[in-house]
Amino acid sequence: MRMILVGPPGAGKGTQAARLVGSYRIPHISTGDMLRAAVKAGTELGKQADGFMKRGALVPDELVIAMVLERIQQDDAKGGFMLDGFPRTTPQAQALDVAMTKAGITLDSVVLIEVPDELIEERIIHRRSDPETGAIYHLEFNPPTDEAVAARLVQRKDDTAEACRARLSKYHAETAPIVPFYEQKGLLRRVDGQGTPDEVEVRIKAALA
Ligand code: AP5
Repeated sequence: MRMILVGPPGAGKGTQAARLVGSYRIPHISTGDMLRAAVKAGTELGKQADGFMKRGALVPDELVIAMVLERIQQDDAKGGFMLDGFPRTTPQAQALDVAMTKAGITLDSVVLIEVPDELIEERIIHRRSDPETGAIYHLEFNPPTDEAVAARLVQRKDDTAEACRARLSKYHAETAPIVPFYEQKGLLRRVDGQGTPDEVEVRIKAALA
């Protein structure tokens, strides 16, 4: 299975990817996670990406495209992958299309998780993650039950109200236009991202079946 998860910031892409990869036995390739790891490691890519990410802007296409095309050629992605957060612009979608055609592989599905704008900020500003396991929590909707986990939770630098608004605006301007690109190819599956994570997971699995 080769698939893409698309949706606005806070739609639940990371939350759902963590649940789905086990069922489909494919690697979860999150460009946000890869870029945050590069920032943390202080690599050249991380240094270039950091400023864009902090203010909720997109990292330039050429940097992200090179990073993803290299990643999907690795051994663990040969049998399939779940892309989360990529493509996010029309040039990224086109570059992926060209690279996959060249490699003789095809995309199976693009799942669009739809959540209204008014729910996004609430999800983002109360998100926390566990630096040890990468697990994603929400202080109200999905708090950790273990006190040791609760004590070590961290907040992303771009999970401020201001950066969230910038990310949402970028989503509508740059990422929403890739939806018709995949709709025309007959690959798009729209899923309602409201309700509990369990409910959303069931809808995604039904859309992929
Ligand atoms: P990235 O990490 O991809 O961020 P994003 O797309 O903005 O998405 P998020 O991670 O914020 O949200 P999500 O949909 O994964 O939601 P989550 O499951 O965490 O990118 C970050 C930055 O990196 C970008 O701004 C950009 O600078 C750069 N970047 C990355 N990819 C790039 C690319 N391709 N090109 C250029 N730049 C790129 O859930 C959110 C919260 O809601 C959590 O607290 C969760 O617990 C909660 N939640 C989830 N589901 C539910 C539910 N059903 N009900 C209630 N709460 C829920």
